[in-house]
Amino acid sequence: MKNAVSWVLVLFLTVTLLNNCLQNTTHQEIKKKQSFIDQLRIAYSSGDISKWPKPILDPSKPAFSEIGHLPKVEFPADNLYSEEKASLGRVLFYDPRLSGSNQIACASCHDPELGWTDNRKLSFGHDRQLGSRNAMTIMNVAYAKSLFWDGRAASLEDQAKMPIEDMREMHEHIDIATEKIVKIKGYESLFEKAFGDKKITKDRIAKAIATFERTVISPPSRFDRFIDGDKEIYTNDEVMGLHLFRTKAQCMNCHNSGYFSNNVFENNGTSLLSSEEEDLGQYLITKNKSDVGKFRVPTLREITKTGPWMHNGSFNTLAEVIQFYSTGNPEPYKYRSTVHDGTTLNSEKSDMLKLLDLTKEEMLQLEAFLGTLSTPVTRPAPPKLPK
Ligand code: HEC
Ligand code: HEC
Repeated sequence: MKNAVSWVLVLFLTVTLLNNCLQNTTHQEIKKKQSFIDQLRIAYSSGDISKWPKPILDPSKPAFSEIGHLPKVEFPADNLYSEEKASLGRVLFYDPRLSGSNQIACASCHDPELGWTDNRKLSFGHDRQLGSRNAMTIMNVAYAKSLFWDGRAASLEDQAKMPIEDMREMHEHIDIATEKIVKIKGYESLFEKAFGDKKITKDRIAKAIATFERTVISPPSRFDRFIDGDKEIYTNDEVMGLHLFRTKAQCMNCHNSGYFSNNVFENNGTSLLSSEEEDLGQYLITKNKSDVGKFRVPTLREITKTGPWMHNGSFNTLAEVIQFYSTGNPEPYKYRSTVHDGTTLNSEKSDMLKLLDLTKEEMLQLEAFLGTLSTPVTRPAPPKLPK
């Protein structure tokens, strides 16, 4: 009997001891994790980028500049900023009379209430025809070095005429659109204030719209405030997400600078060759075989507002996008080649997309960080259209 009691006692003591040990290690691990996050928080919110941990960049040396604030916007020498020009551009941006049906304005697909996009997978335009690409935001477009997913416009001035003439978008000849604006009396004084005289030309229309677009810039986001020293504004997950973005998840190879894009064209393996949704990307413009399936690296500022995501709007949630990167997108073989105009073309996915094996927690942290790049939605009243 005595023996049995001692055995029970010994067992009890061992279990308690083990339990204590275990609790201590988890407790210590949590403490270690927390102190790591605290250190990151101090470094990243120090206001001094030289104190940040080193980023992990691909050995192929992608175009890189550190993430941070958006720099001051530069206006081109032949289209300098004036308040009058920007406000004329804003009116034109909202004016559906630039379209064939007099129903579709730039703002129809680039709506400020929807992150300056239309929040649709693919845009529809004239006669409700469906386009083949997802509408990009015009927020912060001043920092884009070329326009469109495939870079087919070199400047915002060139770009502005294209949707007007696009048969599936605004469906109007630019000269006829210009004539319609010429005939609206109320525009005369606006052009005079913006350009010094009343002459209305297609180039002036484009210049005014481009000037307006260069003023659509994000105000400081929670990210900007955090790196400026507002130390407690980030949750632990957001701090970890920022760190992962720059290190293990290697997003920084492409989404870098204050614009969160290095303006380079990259192949993410999303061109779906030989399928109905095939999109040859930059190849359509350059006809360079190595450009098949390349798209301009998009900005990640305001990213929570501009879904669905990618050139074809194929991702409904940011969680899906992060999952895609975590697997390194093992692009199915059947989508990697096509015959186009008699030429065989292959999609060569970037080597920078590789298995990252992010944990569930890390994926959530990355997503939390992406959320801090967005600013609150604004709902500006549309301008009064001249008569
Ligand atoms: C029918 C919907 C629709 C209309 C109307 C429309 N857009 Fe777009 N916009 C899009 C789509 C879709 C894209 C991406 C197209 C592509 O890459 O091929 C785009 C891309 C852009 C871009 C490129 C952004 C970047 O980051 O490269 C700019 C700038 C732009 N539009 C401005 C305008 C202006 C200015 C107007 C009016 C003159 C206009 N859009 C009218 C749907 C539209
Ligand atoms: C090799 C360069 C590269 C790397 C690395 C990269 N991206 Fe991208 N990213 C792109 C390109 C190119 C696109 C557009 C592809 C398309 O439209 O099919 C894109 C699109 C996106 C989009 C959708 C944007 C939109 O407006 O629709 C998100 C979100 C995104 N990336 C987040 C990330 C995150 C998070 C990481 C890190 C885990 C990452 N990216 C790593 C090149 C890259």
